[in-house]
Parts: sequence; C-alpha cells; structure tokens
Amino acid sequence: MPFARTVAVTLAGLALAGLAQAAQPQKGAKDEARAREVIRASFKEKGQAGLDRLEQDEVQAACSRAPAQGPLPDAAAKKLVAAQQATLVYPADGKLMGDWKKGEQIAQSGVGKQFSDDPAKPSGGNCYACHRLSKQEVSFGTLGPSLYQYGKVRGQGEAMQRYTYAKIFNPQAFTACSTMPRFGHHAILTEEQIRDLVALLLDPASPVNQ
Ligand code: HEC
Repeated sequence: MPFARTVAVTLAGLALAGLAQAAQPQKGAKDEARAREVIRASFKEKGQAGLDRLEQDEVQAACSRAPAQGPLPDAAAKKLVAAQQATLVYPADGKLMGDWKKGEQIAQSGVGKQFSDDPAKPSGGNCYACHRLSKQEVSFGTLGPSLYQYGKVRGQGEAMQRYTYAKIFNPQAFTACSTMPRFGHHAILTEEQIRDLVALLLDPASPVNQ
C-alpha cells in the first residue's frame, strides 16, 4: 500500500511537472509584461532620460532572457554578433587614431545621458568605471579586463586600429551580450571621441602603454 501511494504521488508529481513546463513560456511572457509595467510606472520621464529607454532592441531582449535560460546557444550568439557587425560605421576619411590626451579625459569622464546632464554637451566614456587603463589612475572598476599596456602588447597596426575603433563603437559586434555600452551605435560618443580613445589605447606615448 505505501508503495502504491508513492507511485501515485510520483505520477501526480510528474503530471504537474509536465503541466508546469507546458505553461512556462506563457507564464514567462506574462511575468515579463508585468515587470515592464511596474518599471514603466516607477520611472518618470525627465529631460533627455525618456521612457523610450525601456524599449529593448533585438539584442537587448535576447540578452535579457539569456540569464534565465542559461548562456546563449552558440548559434544564437553567432547570429547576434553577425547582425551587430552589420551596424558598424567607420570614419569616412579612414582616420582611426586621434589625440590620446583628449582620449584620457573622455575615459575619465562619467558625464552624459542622465536627466541632469546638458544634452548639448559631449558625453564621457566612463571607461575607468570598468577598466584599468593607466598606471597613474588607481581608481578603476574591474567589470571589464585591464587595458593597461593594451597597445604595447597588441601593436598599433591598421587591423588593430580597426578592431579597437569597432569594439568601442559596438562591443556586441564581437562579443554577444557584452555588458560594455555600445558607444557609437547608441551615439553616446562621436566619431572624433572614439578616435581619441583609440589613440589612448594604441599610441605608444599614451599613459596606457607606459
Ligand atoms: C560597464 C562596463 C564597461 C564600460 C563602461 C566600458 N567597458 Fe570596455 N569592456 C567591458 C567588458 C565587460 C569587456 C569584456 C567583454 C567584451 O569584450 O565585450 C570590455 C572589453 C573592452 C575591450 C576589448 C578588450 C580586448 O582584449 O579585446 C576594449 C578595447 C574596451 N573594452 C574599451 C573600452 C573603452 C575605451 C571604454 C570607454 C569608452 C570602455 N571599454 C567602457 C566593460 C566595459
């Protein structure tokens, strides 16, 4: 009798588990819609910080779901990277290296895109918030890899300049679901600012390469 009960309970459990699995996608979509409602209701539009920022593009939506599902499958990641590669825009004049001194200021500045910032003024890149870049600056975040001696180790050739420009323009064109902002793609930084950052990373005279 206890055996039979166990079997019955187990079968019921399996049936429930089956049901739960079948209901999961719909439940997921409902939860997502509710979460979006709550977030939308709790944010106020102010200045340049509009509610349009809650709209996710294809990449953001796929990457937001990824943690719940586990890492993106290889094929999906390759597809995302290929789609983001197609968005890359290089300077029309082919010049990829600017002024590393300006690049250092851009890397240090966390100003921009907040409601309290003047949208007419240029934004910073806030690179130090996630990367070590120079020996002198000891206050840096570690969410991203250290970029200290980046150019010294990897060289300053044309291919390296193109990769570095494109990586800052749109990191997801190389790494699916990267947490680094898409600085050019989202017009956070201008073409000239990205060039200055390429120089900061690659110029042998820059503090990054000492
Ligand atoms: C919110 C954190 C964050 C910020 C801000 C950020 N990055 Fe990154 N960065 C990352 C992460 C994480 C990676 C590693 C994943 C990847 O490659 O996308 C990375 C990778 C990179 C790489 C590739 C390194 C390699 O070995 O190829 C470069 C170059 C880079 N960042 C430059 C910059 C510059 C320049 C800025 C400022 C304009 C910046 N990052 C701002 C998080 C950030």
